[in-house]
Amino acid sequence: MAIQLAPLPLPPSADASKFARFGREVVGVDPGNLTSEQFDEVRDALYKHDVLLFRDTTLSPEQQYALTKAFDPTSENYGHGNNKTEGTAKSILHPDLKTIPRVPQVQLIGNGTVYDHEGLAEAKLKHPSHKAFHKTGVSPEDEAAGFTRFYRWHIDAALYDLSPPRVTTLYALRVPRGTPQMCRYDDGSGDVLPVPLGTTAFVSGKTMFAILPPALKSVAVRARVRYAPHPYVWMAPARAKSTGLGIESDALEMALEELPSWEEAKVKVLPVLWKTAGTGELSFQVHPCGVAELLIDALPAGAAREGALYPDGAHLTDLREVRDLLYSMQRPAIAPQLVYPHDWHENDLVLFHNRGVLHSVVGAFTPDKVRAFHQCNLAASDDPLGPSPEDVATWA
Ligand SMILES: [Fe+2]
Repeated sequence: MAIQLAPLPLPPSADASKFARFGREVVGVDPGNLTSEQFDEVRDALYKHDVLLFRDTTLSPEQQYALTKAFDPTSENYGHGNNKTEGTAKSILHPDLKTIPRVPQVQLIGNGTVYDHEGLAEAKLKHPSHKAFHKTGVSPEDEAAGFTRFYRWHIDAALYDLSPPRVTTLYALRVPRGTPQMCRYDDGSGDVLPVPLGTTAFVSGKTMFAILPPALKSVAVRARVRYAPHPYVWMAPARAKSTGLGIESDALEMALEELPSWEEAKVKVLPVLWKTAGTGELSFQVHPCGVAELLIDALPAGAAREGALYPDGAHLTDLREVRDLLYSMQRPAIAPQLVYPHDWHENDLVLFHNRGVLHSVVGAFTPDKVRAFHQCNLAASDDPLGPSPEDVATWA
């Protein structure tokens, strides 16, 4: 049976005209038991629509791993690698991850204490809080009144040695209900976004590119980012912007010589724009927190130089300059009307195209709110492709 696709319900905050292609609910199939024809349709739909929702699913960790692996059959290891290694033990991601013993590629994430869960006698889970990551925080009084923030806009990727996963699967097992919250940007814009408690927020990388003015499109199509070695260790002492979209430039990052041992050959240099499998569309995919440098190619021969930024190319190594430029390109796409905040229900399975969206944890739970999700993504068998020469000719 062919799969059927229905639009995702958008919140009133969303500009529907910007979500025509984004997100679909898949109905009529069991994601744990797809035929190969159905899987091909799901894969094509994911690359076209970026977020797929299956409701009322039953999915074992083995089935979730198999579904995730089907997008990249030779991939095998969790997207962040083995989290017992030296390089990740000091990482800011470390406390958030608990592995399912039978299927170590599947992580248990959530909040509160979960007992007797898939071979784990007791797992203490903690929903990440912006207060442990942002430079400033929502005051206790405002938090009590329901205000919160985006935690961290990101791509699921180690950004060192391993290649960014193609897809992440998120399966909601326990979802505590609670009053909605108001996500505040606190950046002087006055922007706020009403969100369901504990939402996962998504934005489209295609939209992030599409809404840029021509001069910044030209920079994006010519640029690559160099991530820091062991970026989650490197950034650990630093603090994030109030929007969760990158780090404040206060020179708090660890010095390269303080990091766990690293090799130049494993440092990731990735294009700013990633070419989508199947559709060929360009998606602005930068994990702003981990970026150390920007490499911008010169304009191609024949391109108009008037009004162009960095017409002769540039290698930006000043962190503040790098971050300011990236922020000016990424911030417009997290405007409230461009965010899809998923309203989780138990037994929702969400597949998202990790090479086509940025996402963020949002909100805060008290310890008595028990939430349990299974998450899986696999370090890819290859790095994403950047713009083709034709893309550069079109956009530079
Ligand atoms: Fe994530």
